[in-house]
Amino acid sequence: MRDSETPVLCPIPPGFVAPGADGAEFVPLLALGDLAPGTMRRVSFGDLDVLVAATDAGIVVTDDRCPHMSAPLSLGTLDGCAVACVLHRGTFDLATGETVTFPTTGGLDADGVSHAPWNPADTGPKPEPSASKASARALTRTRRLRFYPTRVEGGVLEARIPR
Ligand code: FES
Repeated sequence: MRDSETPVLCPIPPGFVAPGADGAEFVPLLALGDLAPGTMRRVSFGDLDVLVAATDAGIVVTDDRCPHMSAPLSLGTLDGCAVACVLHRGTFDLATGETVTFPTTGGLDADGVSHAPWNPADTGPKPEPSASKASARALTRTRRLRFYPTRVEGGVLEARIPR
């Protein structure tokens, strides 16, 4: 949980700014008081959905799309700085942008390293996929998260959102 010692805004890891965000205008997202520590919200701008998360390291704004197969991260759970995706159990660090737990489907990581599929302990083994589906899974890359620069103005959280 965030406390008085935790910075309000989490710094973006070097090189992890979302494409087009650096030169974009700041736009309001929500009142700071509307985001309790340890919670997440989805905010949409046209077809761009962003995730606002109050992590243990401060507030982050990133795409509300899993870096694996684009499921909404806002439907998952937040534990400290780690958001868990509901679709294939991937877990991602919102402070570093890195994968913590690889998705159950396996596939390639951001550096192109291959990961095997795995079965969660609370589910039975799944039937083997077709050869084409297994190939698609194996070649699906789980990327690093990208972030939108943030600031607080008059108690309102703003972010640079490309339009
Ligand atoms: S879509 Fe999120 S882990 Fe697969």
